[in-house]
Amino acid sequence: MKISVIGCGYLGAVHAASMAELGHDVVGIDVDRLKVEALQQARAPFYEPGFEELLARSLGSGRLRFSVDMADARDAVLHFVCVGTPQKRGEYAADLRYVEAAAESLLEVLKPGDLVAGKSTVPVGTAARLAELVRGKVPGAMLAWNPEFLREGYAVQDTLHPDRLVYGLAPGDEGQAARALLDEVYATIVAAGTPQVVTDYATAEMVKTAANSFLATKISFINAMAELCEATGADVKQLADAIGHDDRIGRKFLNAGLGFGGGCLPKDIRAFMARAGELGADQALTFLREVDNINMRRRIRMVELAREVCDGSLLGKRVAVLGAAFKPDSDDIRDSPALNVAAQLQLQGAVVQVTDPAAGDNIRRSWPQLDVVDTAEEAAHRADAVLLLTEWKQYRDLDPVAFGSVVRQKRVLDGRNALDRDRWEAAGWSYRALGRRGG
Ligand code: UDX
Repeated sequence: MKISVIGCGYLGAVHAASMAELGHDVVGIDVDRLKVEALQQARAPFYEPGFEELLARSLGSGRLRFSVDMADARDAVLHFVCVGTPQKRGEYAADLRYVEAAAESLLEVLKPGDLVAGKSTVPVGTAARLAELVRGKVPGAMLAWNPEFLREGYAVQDTLHPDRLVYGLAPGDEGQAARALLDEVYATIVAAGTPQVVTDYATAEMVKTAANSFLATKISFINAMAELCEATGADVKQLADAIGHDDRIGRKFLNAGLGFGGGCLPKDIRAFMARAGELGADQALTFLREVDNINMRRRIRMVELAREVCDGSLLGKRVAVLGAAFKPDSDDIRDSPALNVAAQLQLQGAVVQVTDPAAGDNIRRSWPQLDVVDTAEEAAHRADAVLLLTEWKQYRDLDPVAFGSVVRQKRVLDGRNALDRDRWEAAGWSYRALGRRGG
């Protein structure tokens, strides 16, 4: 099928290359010329395991190209909208300007029978409004909402092997025709037995924000338990293991630590609250404000813990920060808890050295006031404390014996409950972690 993908960020670029991998003829459109040039030369503009290989393969097949010109989407019959919906400055609501701009420029190329499939995370009600616009300008063109659940670090796998397909459709014939096109484009995924949820626009839009709200709530739940563990001397990791054995609860997303960040969970729960307020249903989501608060308190607690282990003052103390991306296997530093902590430590007088296997260039660009070094050993050189803030495998696998020889004080703070405490303590380190008793 001939398809276009509007917006080539994490979501769109991976979606475009994946659709070409599935055999479709794809053009990816983005307004950012530099990004388009990089993608066209098979260079990924962001770090995502497996993506560059997929991109090279898809470009090599001749089925994928990128362009800044919306006119190149004219031949496509299915147009995926994959642009970002960041948080508005100074408010909780989502900024829909990129979605609006994508829709407006698509109107110039749409033909009767074409389907616009929205994948961006939008406030409930957006699809119905855009559908009116599309039908009003191009009679016979259709709109569906088809949310995407990909996780950074697993974006390729999640796109090619999603755990569900959600179609939000218009009622009647339009919905049936849209469904047929979506089933055709996802034929391989459908044939693999992937569960499908076929529903209306509002439900499809809400599936995404509800899913992210649930995940954020699960993380904040265990982090609230961590606060209690700190007050009682209990151990949050064992607590999570024990409650996680109940398969109604499950162990996934119960990793206590610095909490959630990134380009999705924080802004999505806030946009959901804002939209609930507009709909007169704000009470239903006031708990998300607490979820957000618990999450933010973890960052403050981490800084306090660092001060505590540095004998009560951060002034002039050398602190190594291992990991700065919002999670491992990503170079994304949007709302990164690790960077938030690193910056607070520095503002409070510590001499901070940050390192990250992938996010170094992004930090240098966006946080020039922070010192970034290439390796964990450089960061920890003569350090008074080492903080593990993003649990990359290479940090989890550090040898505490060898690593102990580069620091001044063998003090480690495990912000992600990811290190083998016994090994580090056996190597003479004092080990502290959020939600666990001191050594
Ligand atoms: C999330 C959703 O998982 C995905 O379905 C959606 O499409 C986009 O948002 P992503 O932002 O890539 O994906 O990251 P995710 O793996 O969900 O992690 C989010 C944050 O939660 C990270 O900062 C991570 O470190 C943190 N986290 C995750 C925890 O603190 N504890 C956990 O147990 C799990």
